[in-house]
Amino acid sequence: MLTLAIETSCDDTAAAVVHAEQRRVLSSIISSQHEVHTPFGGIVPELASRRHIEMIQPVVAEALARAGVTLDHIKLIAATQGPGLVGSLLVGFTFAKALALTRNLPCVGVDHLAGHLLSCLLEQDTPSFPYTALIVSGGNTALFRVDSPTSYIRLGRTRDDAAGEAFDKVAKMLHLGYPGGPIIARLAEQGNAQAYAFPRAWLAKDSLDFSFSGLKTAVHNTVMASDQSDETVVCDICASFEEAVVEVLTHKTIMATHSNQHNQVVLGGGVAANKRLRQRIQTLCQQEGLKLFLPSPVFCTDNAAMIALAGYHAYQNGQEAEPDADAYSRSPLH
Ligand code: KG4
Repeated sequence: MLTLAIETSCDDTAAAVVHAEQRRVLSSIISSQHEVHTPFGGIVPELASRRHIEMIQPVVAEALARAGVTLDHIKLIAATQGPGLVGSLLVGFTFAKALALTRNLPCVGVDHLAGHLLSCLLEQDTPSFPYTALIVSGGNTALFRVDSPTSYIRLGRTRDDAAGEAFDKVAKMLHLGYPGGPIIARLAEQGNAQAYAFPRAWLAKDSLDFSFSGLKTAVHNTVMASDQSDETVVCDICASFEEAVVEVLTHKTIMATHSNQHNQVVLGGGVAANKRLRQRIQTLCQQEGLKLFLPSPVFCTDNAAMIALAGYHAYQNGQEAEPDADAYSRSPLH
């Protein structure tokens, strides 16, 4: 079923055409807004939705053109319904519903997290169900048991900041730019991860929840007491911070997989593109005899191909968006 999908939950305008049964991505276009938000050190919601309005039509047109198809070939339209910035979501979701209405096509609203949970299925080597998934992005950090393409059980989640948000905030403290994750990761490679003993929030014994606000405060206090013009200091702070995040994420993911009594681990979300996180989880999975599935970085960060796949499965499961369906900011999955 040729599916056209749209994703505008945050600051990227994305569209994709996917042959859903074959899990074959014909095109996946992402128009980034980084240059709009960089001067502010974070996303400005009003500016994000305005830019989505400008970009939605050309991005969808490019996705169709790159796939070598027209709207006549499309059988299903899927769009992210939530969670995210409501102003941004409304642009993509409304565009999708209007397009479906005019073309007499079915339209399905997709939960952004469901997209991340299934993004590993777009790769060559895919897990079977059930599997344990860590979704770690700018807006979410949570662990799930994925029983089928439409059935997920949340095992734990962050009680405050998402890990990606912590990366972005630490980058802002150090005046490094936005988005902070990739910049911190690059500087961390030149730093000493043992230089600063930042706290790890393990929470209660066996808890699969996360917390990054204490770590953020500890980094803030260190930054305030440090010479920020010293490159070595900045790199050491980045490396020590990254290590603290990675240690907790990987440890709890392994714990969750064991508690699920199966052996497949999946990562998704923008922070899953982090090299240190990927290395560490790979090593741990090898040690523990677990099979790891890492989506390529383009399917980790926000993209519409994963929304197409999740939308197709939701549609097969009987879901369809009414023309008056609304976007939502908080996920029922989270
Ligand atoms: O999934 P995503 O594209 O958007 C949502 O939040 O939904 O994730 C973006 C987040 C940002 O916080 C960004 O700083 C972080 O992912 N990120 C990274 C890396 N690449 C992106 N964090 C750490 N290391 C990276 N290499």
